[in-house]
Amino acid sequence: MRPCCNVLILGRNSSIFGCPLLKRGHFTDINLPKSQLKLCNLIKTNCFHNNRVLKFSSVIDSNRRVFCGSGSNWSQSRVFSGSGIEKNPNFRSVIANVASNIRKHSNSVESRVNENSFEKIYIQGGFNVKPLVIERIEKGQELEKKDEEKEKKYNVKVNDGSNKNADQLSKSEIFESTLGRHVSEVEKEAWKLLRGAVVNYCGNPVGTVAATDPADKQPLNYDQVFIRDFVPSALAFLLNGEGEIVKNFLLHTLQLQSWEKTVDCYSPGQGLMPASFKIRAQPLDGRDGEFEDVLDPDFGESAIGRVAPVDSGLWWIILLRAYGKVTGDYTLQERVDVQTGIRLILNLCLTDGFDMFPTLLVTDGSCMIDRRMGIHGHPLEIQALFYSALRCSREMLTVNDSTKNLVVAINNRLSALSFHIREYYWVDMKKINEIYRYKTEEYSTEATNKFNIYPDQIPGWLVDWIPETGGYFIGNLQPAHMDFRFFTLGNLWAIVSSLSTSKQSEGILNLIEEKWDDLVAQMPLKICYPALEHEDWRIITGGDPKNTLWSYHNGGSWPTLLWQFTLACIKMGRPELARKAVALAEKRLSADQWPEYYDTRYGRFVGKQARLHQTWTIAGYLTSKMLLDNPEMASILFWNEDYELLENCVCGLKSGRRKCSRLAARSHTTV
Ligand code: GLC
Repeated sequence: MRPCCNVLILGRNSSIFGCPLLKRGHFTDINLPKSQLKLCNLIKTNCFHNNRVLKFSSVIDSNRRVFCGSGSNWSQSRVFSGSGIEKNPNFRSVIANVASNIRKHSNSVESRVNENSFEKIYIQGGFNVKPLVIERIEKGQELEKKDEEKEKKYNVKVNDGSNKNADQLSKSEIFESTLGRHVSEVEKEAWKLLRGAVVNYCGNPVGTVAATDPADKQPLNYDQVFIRDFVPSALAFLLNGEGEIVKNFLLHTLQLQSWEKTVDCYSPGQGLMPASFKIRAQPLDGRDGEFEDVLDPDFGESAIGRVAPVDSGLWWIILLRAYGKVTGDYTLQERVDVQTGIRLILNLCLTDGFDMFPTLLVTDGSCMIDRRMGIHGHPLEIQALFYSALRCSREMLTVNDSTKNLVVAINNRLSALSFHIREYYWVDMKKINEIYRYKTEEYSTEATNKFNIYPDQIPGWLVDWIPETGGYFIGNLQPAHMDFRFFTLGNLWAIVSSLSTSKQSEGILNLIEEKWDDLVAQMPLKICYPALEHEDWRIITGGDPKNTLWSYHNGGSWPTLLWQFTLACIKMGRPELARKAVALAEKRLSADQWPEYYDTRYGRFVGKQARLHQTWTIAGYLTSKMLLDNPEMASILFWNEDYELLENCVCGLKSGRRKCSRLAARSHTTV
């Protein structure tokens, strides 16, 4: 008998009532605890013999449609055990600086307080908190009707690149009057393309695909909605008063978070967010002309190199906060399932490991640079996003008995992380000179050269390159290793999140201005500087033909970084720098068909393998324009210095033989 559960599309390796599916629709009960085994058998019996799938489907769907994840009859609880950060008696709490009050929630997703830990989250429904079961069974006519509705709402036909209709015209007129300026043809084209990249799920917009290159015969995964790529799209929509798509995106990706995921029999952490997802219209077995929408996430199991999308969850949290700030709709972040989502991500990030540093330890390619580029360990980009996500979470978490320990852990980590990055990642002329004169093999807690950096590591290019004024955060720090490359996203996001002191933030912008030809050149902005060449390229990238000298992730120029640059410049009161960069980009982006990236030392050529109509290029440009038009909006997207964190060191070492290194170190880097 054909397993009828095939119509329940839960995505790859998902589960029903805690029963994992090895393949779509096939139950497996290997290694299940008894309680779940029973349940699985029950479902098996029902599914395989009674053919009751549609009934089952509709029960679940009533739960799904309202995104509630609560009030359903899911019968199990899942306990997540986590870091035990509070074990260390030296930690003392920094006063919780949270904006939110204790709020009352339904208790369908419930936290039970364990005095000593923040990390136990019980979710009714067990493994399968919010199953996605779609019962959209549409016939030709219904589909057409849906498309019409979709058009009305979003004013463009999805993915067909057609011209705007009358509704859209009036929209851009409204837009012009809000802006108080003329909207250029380039901007109008960008809006049209951005709207053309919108994808719908069950009739609702839920994201934008990575690229809509008309000439692309092999889209690989560029026809998917990437979490990180959607952020600038989301901001463009939010700044244009369109919150629905962002809300839908946040809720749908939240549902994906709870899925069972497996890569070659190994399951990554529960809070992991996918790198991307795809929506498939799947024909229903044995039902002619009937389809169902299927959300199909990629947690890295299909990604080139099987890279872990560590940044996805961090971006999700950052976007969630931005949604609340821009729309004023804080009910979304207050929802029980959303609160749980935040906590799952945090649990994953705050889990104890073997780390000696407060920075997050990750594998290569775990962020925007999603292939081997020698950024494994503690790359700056991840640290800056981590810091922002912690700050966002502290604002958004509902504080109650079950979260208070988590809030303490967040504060402690924020404090330690900002100290670590400000102190050890920062380089300028003075610091490089210090490193140049380092003694090595120092054994003591008082060591100056804590990480045993050999002065020979200072690369030749840096000696001449570092300007008299200004500085930047290096790309990575590990024992006996400083990656001196300049990584743009990490440095910009450090400014935006106030991970850097204001003096450092100014220093970074000074350096970018001073080194404009290297970092901005003909197309803003270089993803990193300089590029790896020769043996370095061969060894570090593994001989990657896409990452050759000044191409792609190896010193290519990525216009999407414009929005982060704009945000950083506005924050530091230097919008003219951003305007200059936007003007440069504006000259070419439309003519070059909005490429994903540019190649060569000065960004003169469209990238070798760059997709055209790359959505985050388009959205990054639009977001930059809107932020420059509306700097007050920018101000709600960045963070100012948190003086409370600076005041309160969490290590508890004030006097005695071992002194707090932080108090001792109050160096040039502090505000
Ligand atoms: C490339 C980029 C990655 C991006 C994806 C989709 O893999 O490296 O950062 O998210 O394309 O645009």
